[in-house]
Amino acid sequence: MENDDHNKRLSSSSSQLRWGILRDALLRRPHSSQPDDVDDEYDDSLRFGAKRISRKTFHGFNLIPCRLLDGHRNSNPNPNPNDVFVSYTLPSRAPTTPSTLLLRQRAENHIDFHDFDVCHKFHIDNTGLLCHWPSEDVLAYFCLSHADMFRSKRILELGAGYGFAGLAIAAGTQALEVVISDGNPKVLIFLLRCKPLPGGDIQHNIHVNSEAFADTKVKSLILHWNEVLDSNTSNNNFDIIVASDCTFFKEFHEGLANIIKSLLKPSAASQAIFFSPRRGDSLDKFLEKVKETGLHFTIADNYDEVVWERHQKFLLGDSSLNYEQDHCYPLMVRIAF
Ligand SMILES: C[S@@+](CC[C@H](N)C(=O)[O-])C[C@H]1O[C@@H](n2cnc3c(N)ncnc32)[C@H](O)[C@@H]1O
Repeated sequence: MENDDHNKRLSSSSSQLRWGILRDALLRRPHSSQPDDVDDEYDDSLRFGAKRISRKTFHGFNLIPCRLLDGHRNSNPNPNPNDVFVSYTLPSRAPTTPSTLLLRQRAENHIDFHDFDVCHKFHIDNTGLLCHWPSEDVLAYFCLSHADMFRSKRILELGAGYGFAGLAIAAGTQALEVVISDGNPKVLIFLLRCKPLPGGDIQHNIHVNSEAFADTKVKSLILHWNEVLDSNTSNNNFDIIVASDCTFFKEFHEGLANIIKSLLKPSAASQAIFFSPRRGDSLDKFLEKVKETGLHFTIADNYDEVVWERHQKFLLGDSSLNYEQDHCYPLMVRIAF
């Protein structure tokens, strides 16, 4: 009975979110301003999703240069008008490190009705399809700056969206294996290698960048945090779990904390590294769930000189940047046994 109520509540909050996002996407209107400290978790999720779709509040820390490849789309025989190709130039310390990644992703704010079917069916949101978010860049940049940590290790990215950080780790750190996961199967389509369509070649992000990964194995995985892990998902297998901007939906906090505990190798050296804006009380609430699992955590704000310097500049910058620390600055959380 309690479960039924709980499920109804989850499902109504999710539809609220989906319809809010859809409404704003269709109307393309600026989101009404509401106070930022609204306490209700569902309103918060709704506001977050809708706000992020109606106006991308902040365009990121510009840590990894990228450019849109118009020519690439034109040379594709079956271009999807909603998709774009973006080339990322990875910072590299060794001349042998591959320095570019090509990602096919949805053009910003181009969600369609089918995306909502998937949301409904899999009880998931669409935020991974909207774009790749500033925290993902920070995560990728941090991992590439600490490449030694990842060498010969098994890595899992959770809630990866387009999986930029996972792909960057695979290309730039000599990890043993990188598994890039998300609970939204539609997002995963951008990562999976699948058969070319007749007359066209759908270039999926893992396949198209495979040369850059050298000996690192790269896989994608549909992994919903509320799911009971099956035997295909090796328990306690990962040395490092990474994620960015994945702590805002309170309904999944418990599942997310439990997934980390189940998948992290039980060793003093294993850790999960999350980059997440504080976003009201949502990060703190997630960390409460982490604590309940018996895992330990630390939080850092000044974890990288360059990111910190940009953060300070944005704080002092003009208001057209739409930089709000609470929603835009990713804190680094390390979780360990
Ligand atoms: C804000 S997006 C961040 C995506 C990517 N990490 C980035 O920063 O660009 C949140 C991601 O978490 C995924 N997600 C949300 N709830 C999930 C759940 N319960 N299980 C698995 N993935 C989930 C979404 O599909 C989405 O890709």
